[in-house]
Amino acid sequence: MFIIKKITAFETYTVRQEVLRKGKPIETCYFNGDNDSTTTHFGLFEDENIIGVVSVYKTNSLLFTDEIQYQIRGMAVLENFQNKGYGEQLLKAAEKFCWEEKANLIWFNAREKAVSFYSKLKYKIVGNSFDIPDVGIHFVMFKRN
Ligand SMILES: CC(C)(COP(=O)(O)OP(=O)(O)OC[C@H]1O[C@@H](n2cnc3c(N)ncnc32)[C@H](O)[C@@H]1OP(=O)(O)O)[C@@H](O)C(=O)NCCC(=O)NCCS
Repeated sequence: MFIIKKITAFETYTVRQEVLRKGKPIETCYFNGDNDSTTTHFGLFEDENIIGVVSVYKTNSLLFTDEIQYQIRGMAVLENFQNKGYGEQLLKAAEKFCWEEKANLIWFNAREKAVSFYSKLKYKIVGNSFDIPDVGIHFVMFKRN
């Protein structure tokens, strides 16, 4: 049994570090806007243990002209718990929140390895791949409501 609930930015950092910034200092897990009033963080818990996190920012991308845009960042499921459907549940919770906030569009920078995961959930790629130093090749992906 698992639950997904809203959490603080601080609570995301251990999972972000383990999954997204392995071996790097905790400061590399602090993202711009983490503590903005328009930012929301979700955690997936099994019993009392945090297994996965995702964060949602009210940020527009210049690639799109849609009025209300939300960016998803910091999507991470602990390695031992991947491929069990938890990532999908977290992404769906983040999406539901964005649509309830009247978002016209959700976008994010997706790691090359995660593109197939997002494609199954009906996100599309826009533009060419680009490199984020120390993290790797990414694509911008999006979905409209
Ligand atoms: C990407 C990530 C968030 C996905 O989370 P997850 O919990 O593994 O995702 P899911 O289990 O919902 O789906 C992952 C895959 O397992 C498959 N799957 C889902 N439920 C499953 C189940 N019950 N049994 C077996 N496989 C399953 C899905 O079809 C999916 O396949 P795909 O990779 O070919 O798309 C996670 O793997 C992760 O944290 N990766 C490292 C960090 C990262 O890349 N983050 C994204 C940055 S953009």
